[in-house]
Amino acid sequence: MELTVRELKEEDLEKFQEFWKFQDEEANRFYVHFLVQDPKERARLFLNESSDKIIVLKDNSIIGWGHLTHHPDYPETPSLGIIIKPEFRNQGIGHLIMKRLIQLGKEKKYKGLYLTASKYNLRAIHLYLEFGFKLIEERTDGVVVMRYEY
Ligand SMILES: CC(C)(COP(=O)(O)OP(=O)(O)OC[C@H]1O[C@@H](n2cnc3c(N)ncnc32)[C@H](O)[C@@H]1OP(=O)(O)O)[C@@H](O)C(=O)NCCC(=O)NCCS
Repeated sequence: MELTVRELKEEDLEKFQEFWKFQDEEANRFYVHFLVQDPKERARLFLNESSDKIIVLKDNSIIGWGHLTHHPDYPETPSLGIIIKPEFRNQGIGHLIMKRLIQLGKEKKYKGLYLTASKYNLRAIHLYLEFGFKLIEERTDGVVVMRYEY
């Protein structure tokens, strides 16, 4: 599969809006930004937020998205998020994005990265552990908090 991994740019907006049009039970459960129902609005929100933004393209269409979202109170430890279009999952694309995001974080000299995930999201947790994230807290609401240290 011929894939391109690169940063998301302003001019990708239309493609990015296309990307978000899929329906997905897994994302409804596990990806909090799916609470924003309208795919166009979701794309705009992500494009405008303060974050490092990575996409994977196949045949000029976006099939995966990952981000390190900045928080004003924790500038040295942004939070990581990632989602792959359902039909492209389990084919190593999550790995490509994780690798690039961790590399980007290193270049930007972040101290670490953190993320939250549902404890039932076994595939995502498997991926995060593989890349060196450590479990730092399991909350009573079934959410796990994980952290990567540079
Ligand atoms: C989680 C997600 C981003 C992973 O991306 P992906 O492209 O499917 O991941 P990859 O194919 O690169 O790697 C998946 C790994 O999980 C493993 N895996 C798959 N299903 C699994 C399961 N049920 N339990 C444990 N591990 C599992 C695979 O074997 C592979 O590991 P390996 O490298 O050791 O073989 C993707 O599945 C997704 O978009 N899920 C919905 C959105 C989401 O949950 N985002 C994360 C929110 S915290």
